[in-house]
Amino acid sequence: MIERTFVAIKPDGVQRSLVGEVLGRFEKAGLKIVAMKMQWIDKDFALKHYTEDIEKRRGKKVRDLLMDYIVEGPVIAMVLEGIHAIEIVRKIVGGTEPKNALPGTIRGDFCHASYDYADKKELAIRNIIHASGNKEDAEYEIKLWFNDNELHSYKNVHDVHIF
Ligand code: CDP
Ligand code: MG
Repeated sequence: MIERTFVAIKPDGVQRSLVGEVLGRFEKAGLKIVAMKMQWIDKDFALKHYTEDIEKRRGKKVRDLLMDYIVEGPVIAMVLEGIHAIEIVRKIVGGTEPKNALPGTIRGDFCHASYDYADKKELAIRNIIHASGNKEDAEYEIKLWFNDNELHSYKNVHDVHIF
């Protein structure tokens, strides 16, 4: 039940100085940071992260727009560990479309654009953060972004005082 999931604060989150705010939410929920780095990826790498799956689900146009968005500045990449971490992180992150993301979630609190607006402007939806969608994606993305020696196992306050 203890899972690891991949999270990246996207370029807009970094540029808007929301790194501390976003990290704080995960830490306060008891999720453990087991890997973290700043990385400015190029389009080749971006294509590996946003695989053909995104094209099947969202179309080629969205994948192309994402390629410009995700390489426009550095991201903060991390691996978070916790009980049902994949699902819990998605809950804290909120829905994909900021317009419909619930208040209290990262996307609901810090952005508000809609699919309609982004489509008309031909822009990717700038929604601050990426989080793996499921177990398979989490395994793939953690391997893509981090070497084994960058992933750490240690005890934090939650291990000692809560579990
Ligand atoms: O990020 P999430 O897993 O919630 O959604 P996704 O379906 O995997 O899409 C990946 C990213 O594509 C989203 O986070 C948006 O930044 C972007 N996107 C977009 O720009 N326009 C859409 N119509 C759908 C997604
Ligand atoms: Mg996704």
